[in-house]
Formats: sequence, structure tokens, C-alpha cells
Amino acid sequence: MTALELGSPERLVGVVGTGTMGQGIAQVALTAGHPVRLYDAVPGRAQEAADAIAARLDRLVDKGRLDAAERDAARARLSPAESLEEFAGAALVVEAVLERLDVKQQLFTDLEEIVGDDCLLATNTSSLSVTAVGGALRLPGRLVGLHFFNPAPLMPLVEVVSGAATDVTAATRAYETARAWGKTPVVCADTPGFIVNRIARPFYAEAFAVYEEQGAQPATIDAVLRECGGFKMGAFELTDLIGQDVNEAVTRSVWEAFFQDVKFRPSLAQRRLVEAGMHGRKSGRGWYAYADGEERPEPHTAQPAQAPAYVVAEGDLGPAAELLTLIREAGIPVREEDEDNGTRLVLPSGGQLALADGQTSVEYRDVIYFDLAFDYRAATRLALATSQQASPQTLREATGLFQAIGKDVSVIGDVPGMIVARTVARLIDLAHDAVAKGVATPEDIDTAMRLGVNYPLGPVEWSRKLGKNWAYSLLDDLHLRDPSGRYAPSLALYRHSYASDKREGSA
Ligand SMILES: NC(=O)c1ccc[n+]([C@@H]2O[C@H](COP(=O)([O-])OP(=O)(O)OC[C@H]3O[C@@H](n4cnc5c(N)ncnc54)[C@H](O)[C@@H]3O)[C@@H](O)[C@H]2O)c1
Repeated sequence: MTALELGSPERLVGVVGTGTMGQGIAQVALTAGHPVRLYDAVPGRAQEAADAIAARLDRLVDKGRLDAAERDAARARLSPAESLEEFAGAALVVEAVLERLDVKQQLFTDLEEIVGDDCLLATNTSSLSVTAVGGALRLPGRLVGLHFFNPAPLMPLVEVVSGAATDVTAATRAYETARAWGKTPVVCADTPGFIVNRIARPFYAEAFAVYEEQGAQPATIDAVLRECGGFKMGAFELTDLIGQDVNEAVTRSVWEAFFQDVKFRPSLAQRRLVEAGMHGRKSGRGWYAYADGEERPEPHTAQPAQAPAYVVAEGDLGPAAELLTLIREAGIPVREEDEDNGTRLVLPSGGQLALADGQTSVEYRDVIYFDLAFDYRAATRLALATSQQASPQTLREATGLFQAIGKDVSVIGDVPGMIVARTVARLIDLAHDAVAKGVATPEDIDTAMRLGVNYPLGPVEWSRKLGKNWAYSLLDDLHLRDPSGRYAPSLALYRHSYASDKREGSA
């Protein structure tokens, strides 16, 4: 099916608001073959945007990604508008104006007087309710959320959001249009943060919480998220890139929209950065400093330690089972023993190493936790969480063991659930909760998180890989230790974890 169903690509697309997103969306529609008209409230800005888009098309030609003839044709199809009246014949108008409800409502009511009744109206809002944006319309059924990601020409994901009043046909047209424009659309209900901005919150929040709990410094947390967790960037470096002000504004808006649910609570440490104007790369300083010659602090990396002569593996290490192969490959003998009561690697010191599970090291005489890795073979760094209760010899042996299998070792404080494990458990919980609340299908959630924020795996797929009960059990343990509700596993996760464990006597 072609764009706008409809439509032939010859149909006019209007873009209102020609800042970062408007320009990107206009470029996408343009390269899909539409004539595109641009309008901005600030005089001259639509022309500047047209020039900027033309310059970007030139660069694509220079790089050999666009033919010169196509570029010339695209430029001829692009025009700035003096007023909204010039949108009269549009098949679709997408707005990317200021993120304010009154401004967007006013714009759409003005547009409704101009465009035909079959014109699809789309908002690129990130944080407002699509239902509210369309609330003042005569025909609210034709308003849909088309949430592009920045930079729109490069990011494949588009969240297609149906408000309470959106017609199915409007949502379908928007979906098919995004597809015809070469994007990967996902379908999403009109709930705070849609899919990506809702489910991604713990990725930032847990990293900031580990820092606030004095568990580790940003450089160490980032390195563990990247080199152990399989994330492309750590939460501190990523928010410095996004802008602390922008990232915090999204967090606050989702938290407010959920009536200040503690699960979405913003971070005090991030608030301080925002207040201080330390917004990240763009202001020269955020979690890290970006002045010339300024070096990024190194993550904590333990000094070389002697590998233990052997280890005893008790029980099934579950998601960390691959470690046994790696230890054997490093020439360290592993004796496996069945154990009903927990799963541990016992070291010659008598101390134990356990996969992060939501408990703390201080609860045991001599237990050190290690973090969840996305892939233990591929990981280049593993983290250990230890307390005063653990003996120095156990820490040396644990460090030497992981170094012997080729990993850098970061030692962090006694943080329950550590860094990767608690982050992934919360992502999984929010994903299951969102599915149960009809926000999106599990497949669309996974697609959105892989394409929208580059996660190595969608949270539902991740949950499958880790085992049905893994996230629930970790969060349950964490919730016991922090009863604020932040870690309380959702009913949806509970159902998922226990779905097929039928009790005796039940039907
Ligand atoms: N920047 C992002 O990463 C991103 C990602 C997805 C969605 N969004 C959403 O896209 C929208 C635009 O964001 P942006 O980053 O491109 O903003 P921006 O500040 O770069 O651009 C906004 C433009 O809208 C114009 N404008 C403001 N009010 C207007 C009006 N009433 N009529 C016409 N033009 C008007 C401004 O002059 C400006 O040129 C917001 O709703 C934002 O939440 C932003």
C-alpha cells in the first residue's frame, strides 16, 4: 500500500513547526516522494528549514546515498508556506511545534478550518496526551500521534498512538503511511510516555540510584552497563548527550502523568545537575566534563589478583551458567554439586560468589555478588558487589577468577540487584505491566526498545532468555529491602512468573 492509502505520494504533506523534529519529518516525507510544505510561527524559519533540508540532501548526494536527479526533484517538491491557509489541499499535516497543550490544541483547531475533512492530522508530541491534543477538534477521530525519534531521517521507529477518540481508519492510515515512508511503526495506546519513554525510565533511574546509594561512580556504572550489560551507552553518558534538562523533563512528565507513582520517581542527583545548568555536552558539563583536554574518569578496575585453584559450583547458575564453561576453558577445575538450597560458586577461601538476586552481601557471612551479563562470553567487564562481611581473601579470589576468564573487574558497593540485574528486572517488569494494560503488544514493545533506544534485546525477549521467574524473584527480594514500592513487582509480572505453576487442587 502506498502512503496515505491512499494516496499517492503526490498528495501534499504539511509540516508545522520546523525545528529539529519538523525538519526531520519533512525530509522523510519528501524523500518518500510527497510534495511537502513547511510552516513555522516565526517568520523566515520555514525558509531556513527548507534550506537546511536542501543542504542535508546535498550531503546525501555527496555521500552517494541519493542521486542528484532525485535530490533536484525533492527540492522542487519542498516549499515554505507563508500561512497555514496553504495547507488547504493537504492529505496529512504533522505538527512538531512547542510541547504545550494549549499551543497544539489551538493549532489543530485553526487547521481544521482550513484542511478538508479527509485530511489526517498527526501530532509528534512526546509527552502530552493525544486525546487531550485532539480534545478541542470538531472531528477528533482524525487526530493520531505519530511519534518520530530524533534524528527522524535516521531513526526507524515511529510510535503510532491512538487517542481515546481516534478512529481506527485514521490510526491505520497513519501506520501505513509510516511504513510507506520506510519506517518501522509500532501501535501504542495513549498512555504516559507511550512505549519507549515509559519503559526506558528505569534504565536511567537505576543507574542514578546506584550512584546515589554510593554504590559506584558514573564512569564505573556506565562501563558496567556497556561492557557487561550489552547496552550501547551507559545512562550517564547517554543523558549527557540527550541533555539532562531534556531527559529529566521526560522523567518528570511521565512521573506526574502517573500521579507521582514512586516507580517513576525522578532522581535528586539529576535534579541538582539541571538546577546547576549542567545539562551535559551542550553546556560543557553534566555528569562528565567536556571542556577541551578534559579526560573522562576511568571506571573502577581491580588490580590483578591470583586466580583460585578451583571452584565448586553448587546448584544451577541459571542465566550465568555459561560462566562454568568459561572457567573451565581458562584451565580452572570446576566441581559441580547438586544443591537444592541456592546456587553459588564456592571459592577455596570458603567464601561464595552468587549472581545478583536482590539481596545484599551484608546479610551473609561471606558472600560476594556478581552482576548479570547480557552474554558472559562477550562481556569484557564484570562487576562484584561486596560488603564488610566478605573476607578480603574471598574478594581476591573472586577478582582473580573473573580476570582469569579475560574480564576487567569493577568492585562496587553492596547494592542489592547491582547495576545490570536490577535495571533489566525493572525494564522487564514495566514491559509486562504495559502489555497487561493494553499499551502495546509484547512484539511491538520489543521492537520499540530495540529500535528506539538501541537495547540489545527487547525486554520481553530478555525476560524469556532469563527465565520466567527471574525478574519477579529479584524484584520481590529488592522490594523486601526497599519497601517504598519502587521495586514492587507488578501484578502482570506475578501472573507471568506463576502462570503455569498450577497449584494442587486448582482447576
Ligand atoms: N527533539 C526531540 O528529540 C523530540 C523527539 C520526539 C518528539 N519531539 C516533539 O516534537 C515537537 C517539537 O520538538 P523540537 O525538538 O523539534 O522543537 P524545536 O524547538 O526544535 O522546534 C519547534 C518549532 O516550532 C515552532 N513553533 C512553536 N509554536 C508554533 C506554532 N504555534 N505554530 C507554528 N510553529 C510553532 C518554533 O518556532 C520552532 O521552530 C515537540 O512536541 C516535542 O515534544 C521532540
